[in-house]
Amino acid sequence: MSVLSAANPESVFTYGAPQLKFGNGASNEIGFDLSLYGVKRVLVVTDPGVAATGTPQRVAEQMAQFGIEAHVFDGVHVEPTDVSLTDAIAQARESGPWDAFVAVGGGSAIDTAKAINLLTTNPGELMDYINLPVGKGLAPTQPLKPLIAVPTTTGTGSESTTICVMDVLHLKVKTGISHARLRPTLAVIDPDLTRTQPAGVTAASGMDILCHALESYTARWYTTNEAKRPEQRVPYCGANPISDMWSEKAMSLLAGSFRTAVRNGEDMQARSDMATAATFAGMGFGNAGVHIPHANAYPIAGQVKDFHPKDYPTDEAMVPHGMSVALTAPEAFRFTFRASPERHVRAAELLAPGADRPDDLSEFLPGVLSALMRDIDLPNGIAAVGFGEGDISELVDGSMKQQRLLATCPLPVTEDDLGGIFRRSMELW
Ligand SMILES: NC(=O)c1ccc[n+]([C@@H]2O[C@H](COP(=O)([O-])OP(=O)(O)OC[C@H]3O[C@@H](n4cnc5c(N)ncnc54)[C@H](O)[C@@H]3O)[C@@H](O)[C@H]2O)c1
Ligand SMILES: [Zn+2]
Repeated sequence: MSVLSAANPESVFTYGAPQLKFGNGASNEIGFDLSLYGVKRVLVVTDPGVAATGTPQRVAEQMAQFGIEAHVFDGVHVEPTDVSLTDAIAQARESGPWDAFVAVGGGSAIDTAKAINLLTTNPGELMDYINLPVGKGLAPTQPLKPLIAVPTTTGTGSESTTICVMDVLHLKVKTGISHARLRPTLAVIDPDLTRTQPAGVTAASGMDILCHALESYTARWYTTNEAKRPEQRVPYCGANPISDMWSEKAMSLLAGSFRTAVRNGEDMQARSDMATAATFAGMGFGNAGVHIPHANAYPIAGQVKDFHPKDYPTDEAMVPHGMSVALTAPEAFRFTFRASPERHVRAAELLAPGADRPDDLSEFLPGVLSALMRDIDLPNGIAAVGFGEGDISELVDGSMKQQRLLATCPLPVTEDDLGGIFRRSMELW
């Protein structure tokens, strides 16, 4: 399975997931679902773009008939930062206490709600809980309140993960908080809500699904890690039989729906399959972990200069998460091929059923990925979002800081390896 091995191999893996409600119309039942928790005051967390669709307000309005007072906070920053989260937490502390939270939106809204939940139930400040070495990496001491996550993008899988991702602005680094208690209590996945997701967001967030599935499928196998003691276990434990199942199925669903969902957002079968794929991939990577494309995404997003993607807020330069992950993925999987050729070939076959196998099998998956990215109108490599040769060493430095993710890579990764991956990702086709 892997070129890595352990002196004292791990024999245990773990699996966690939230309660789940899936289907068109599922978001009409949130008032009832909340009433089961016996809550009285609920904060609905969203961003201005999602608020404009009317969904968060509609979700809030259902609660009155169950005697629940609901308020909408629509100040989520698209791709949260330490500053935006601190601000959201301050406002929630001020207007609280809250008995429960409902996040309506993409990963940005869901992650903001996770941070609000953590810091309105636990003492201290954001930095106390952010992963080492950026923050103090403390674990919450108090239980969190119920959090219902209602995704409106088909991407992050944040509704089923234990992670809250943010940009730390003064360090120009993306990092996060990772703890089992951050996992939402209930994920309500209603494909109807994704009908208004713009094509550019569908394309970028869909690449996030794809990379979650591919990275967890090709992650180092859990038994190649050194055995952990119970108190050392982390949510990401490496590829394992259960995460494989979710990842493979997510890739098959993407094969049949991704191009269609980008080209015709009204195709509800495609929207539904994308929503299913996002959740499945979240169940996979949320337990197995991700590696090089996600590690590289952090500096690509953090060091952006002047790129303004279609269909995203225009006030700030940004490389959206899914896009930043995708841009080095073809080269990353060319690099990891030798760790598990059979998995890379199988993934290419799941993503492009019936495609001809090239003579050099290491080209198969990169070719399938590049063709897809071209078809859904993603930028043609990192040069197209503003990076040049002179930026490579800083990009490599940024990726090397993501050791938590690189530890999941099926091969040892050096600075030179990452430099080569960035260099060859300047232009993909
Ligand atoms: N916690 C996790 O497990 C995890 C995993 C991956 C990524 N992330 C994080 O999630 C964030 C990205 O989230 P995302 O890709 O879901 O997008 P997003 O939440 O950033 O939203 C992107 C844009 O789409 C708009 N939008 C969302 N849904 C819409 C809809 N139905 N109709 C119209 N407009 C809509 C939003 O207003 C926003 O402008 C990043 O910060 C990323 O780092 C978190
Ligand atoms: Zn991601």
